[in-house]
Amino acid sequence: MSQDVHRDRFPEGFTWGAATAAYQVEGAATEGGRGPSIWDVYSHIPGKTLNGDTGDVAADHYHRMPADVALMKDLGLDAYRFSLSWPRIQPGGSGPVNRAGLDFYSRLVDELLAAGIAPVATLYHWDLPAELEDAGGWPVRATAERFAEYARIVGEALGDRVHTFTTLNEPWCSAYLGYASGVHAPGRTEHAAALAAVHHLNLGHGLAGRVLRETAPSAQLSLTLNVHLIRPETDSPEDVDAARRIDALANRAFLDPALKGEYPADLLADTASVTDWSFVQDGDTQVIAVPLDFLGVNYYSPTLVKRWDGTGDKDGADGHGASAATPWIAADDVEFVRLPGPYTAMGWPIDASGMTELLVRLGRDYQGTPMIITENGAAFTDEVAADGGVHDGERVEYLRTHIAAVADAVDAGVDVRGYFVWSLLDNFEWGYGYDRRFGVVRVDYDTQERVLKDSALWYRDLLRGGARG
Ligand code: FCB
Repeated sequence: MSQDVHRDRFPEGFTWGAATAAYQVEGAATEGGRGPSIWDVYSHIPGKTLNGDTGDVAADHYHRMPADVALMKDLGLDAYRFSLSWPRIQPGGSGPVNRAGLDFYSRLVDELLAAGIAPVATLYHWDLPAELEDAGGWPVRATAERFAEYARIVGEALGDRVHTFTTLNEPWCSAYLGYASGVHAPGRTEHAAALAAVHHLNLGHGLAGRVLRETAPSAQLSLTLNVHLIRPETDSPEDVDAARRIDALANRAFLDPALKGEYPADLLADTASVTDWSFVQDGDTQVIAVPLDFLGVNYYSPTLVKRWDGTGDKDGADGHGASAATPWIAADDVEFVRLPGPYTAMGWPIDASGMTELLVRLGRDYQGTPMIITENGAAFTDEVAADGGVHDGERVEYLRTHIAAVADAVDAGVDVRGYFVWSLLDNFEWGYGYDRRFGVVRVDYDTQERVLKDSALWYRDLLRGGARG
């Protein structure tokens, strides 16, 4: 693998960006007519998040948006990936539009365009309007239909200016962490409901995607998945089968309907004891397979699995998406093997080669689908030095090796068209609250002051054509 990460190693027109999500950065949770989301409800339940942190104030981006866009311009970003808060736009998840909420995003889009930055808007990054959860949430079909109505509002209001729409961010998290393990909002632990949520999220993607094609014909359309790079510990049939089962649940449950118009037969068979999948109606998979301009891929860590021998800790791994808190439905005899370090502050193992391997695999199995890395980054325990800087050399190294890994995939012939660092700003890291910092820009949560970490300076240098090796 080559460690050279100069911009020249990437194809003409390759997009460099940074990403955030509404609930993680905006704050202003009860301002401007915004309604409550499942994350407002969940984070306010004692014990659900580290230190009881909530997104009430977050990085105060709602009030600091113009200055934050100026910061992005200074970094030289080609594009900014952000998400729209559904309950800011449609407080109850159905019915009337909240003009003030829509206006906030309209101003953000205009500000970005004026700065020469392409707006990449995700419609759903986990903040379901609370009223829709009260009506059943993602396990019910009506939620997918409401999502398509919301997409129409967004497409009609912003479709003339947004460069790219992404329907969903990581539906894996919404379905399995939200409805099976319960470590994310709404905190339910019902396996059959989680699989129904998988389908209704997929259906919501398809329905909303079609609406966006119609209302925003000049915008690009995408879906972002946290595709897991799953390696079997050995090539024994048992370990290979363990990897296949987790791949079906984690990856192909989303990839196949979206890109091939069908659910994998092995997924349906593996989960038959939990559900008969009768919530999939005729024609649904065709709806889900709305043509995409690219697939968004979020990558942080690899996952190592083996057949559990019935003894010891089968949740040894703490990698992204494979933690002890994640029940793998109908896969009780799969063991998640703890990988050797180094680890990030999340406890996620660092392995850049997994990124190349993942992209090569997707390029092979889903030919003809261009890809963009819509998230990649790392949390470390940053400190502000005496000189006022944040010398986050570990994050620089993480970004450098992972960007080199993307270049390796490009060299191997994979059609990768962009890279977004997670995250532009330190922010509310869900169940981990403000304790885990992913930003290339530090946020002082007492003063809301922004400080460019060394990683931001390095990234800026790369984008300007400077960084090497
Ligand atoms: C992803 C999420 C993002 C952030 C990173 C660290 O799963 O999409 O919001 O939490 O992980």
